[in-house]
Amino acid sequence: MKSTDICLNDQVAFITGAANGIGEGIATSLARFGAHIAIADIDRENGERVATAIRELGREALFIETDVNDTDQISLAIDAVATRFGRLDILVNNAGGVRKQPFLDQSERSWRKHIDFNFISTLCATQAGAKLMIDGKRGGTIINIASSEGLRAAPEFAVYAACKAAIINFTRTMALELSGHGIRVHALAPDMIATKGLQAFFDAQGEAGRIARDHYIPMQRLGSVEEIGSVAVFLASKMSSYLTGLTIPVDAGVHASSGWSRSVRTGEWNLHHW
Ligand SMILES: NC(=O)c1ccc[n+]([C@@H]2O[C@H](COP(=O)([O-])OP(=O)(O)OC[C@H]3O[C@@H](n4cnc5c(N)ncnc54)[C@H](O)[C@@H]3O)[C@@H](O)[C@H]2O)c1
Repeated sequence: MKSTDICLNDQVAFITGAANGIGEGIATSLARFGAHIAIADIDRENGERVATAIRELGREALFIETDVNDTDQISLAIDAVATRFGRLDILVNNAGGVRKQPFLDQSERSWRKHIDFNFISTLCATQAGAKLMIDGKRGGTIINIASSEGLRAAPEFAVYAACKAAIINFTRTMALELSGHGIRVHALAPDMIATKGLQAFFDAQGEAGRIARDHYIPMQRLGSVEEIGSVAVFLASKMSSYLTGLTIPVDAGVHASSGWSRSVRTGEWNLHHW
């Protein structure tokens, strides 16, 4: 092992939903460690902003306006990567999201939208991306962004959570099917990462939000998008060369806690608080 094994010099990464939030954090982190970046997102303004920031780091960057709900657009985006870079080394299936709603009130149209956005997009990008990696004969890494909700029950997030659980299982199967091509496949299961939306939600709750956060998260703070990015760098690098098929909760101990929480008032750990 050498210290340079963490470097991603001249690797090409394609990241969906990388114009903001976790995707932006991953894109910037991979670029800091040497990768060239293709950003596939519907948000042109912020996608170009992230691309400019990556060029300022001395890497190549390409923004491809892409709606991941449209599988043809995903295939065209992967084609654009092939045309521009001639290869793909790192694929990050990050775009996804949710609307909170009790399952009995959710329309079939809404289930299908959640499935297209969170799961079908991952299938499509994985198939097109893995084929390009195989053509390049250099192996590669696929990182799927799941969620803590894919590892547990998630009331009022039923279809989203089922999609994330599907992504976690798909990750395991792809790790096996693609192992012969030198492609490693991983999933990350984040929880409470300080994207603009989540930070605004906690800020709006004031002191009550801080107490809820400190009660729920063992490390008592939100994560940063760079803290997801750094795990992605490790998984994409030679430093993790014997890892595949794994889902890593990047959550400050939330998954480990499994019902345990710390009283904000007394600091005492307990399985129940009332
Ligand atoms: N933030 C968290 O705490 C958290 C926790 C668990 C899982 N996740 C997962 O992380 C991923 C990223 O979430 P985030 O919190 O960074 O979201 P975000 O809203 O901050 O960013 C999402 C990005 O996806 C883009 N996008 C939206 N619709 C798109 C579409 N149809 N096609 C292409 N791009 C589209 C947006 O423009 C934006 O750039 C999601 O899969 C989400 O489920 C986030």
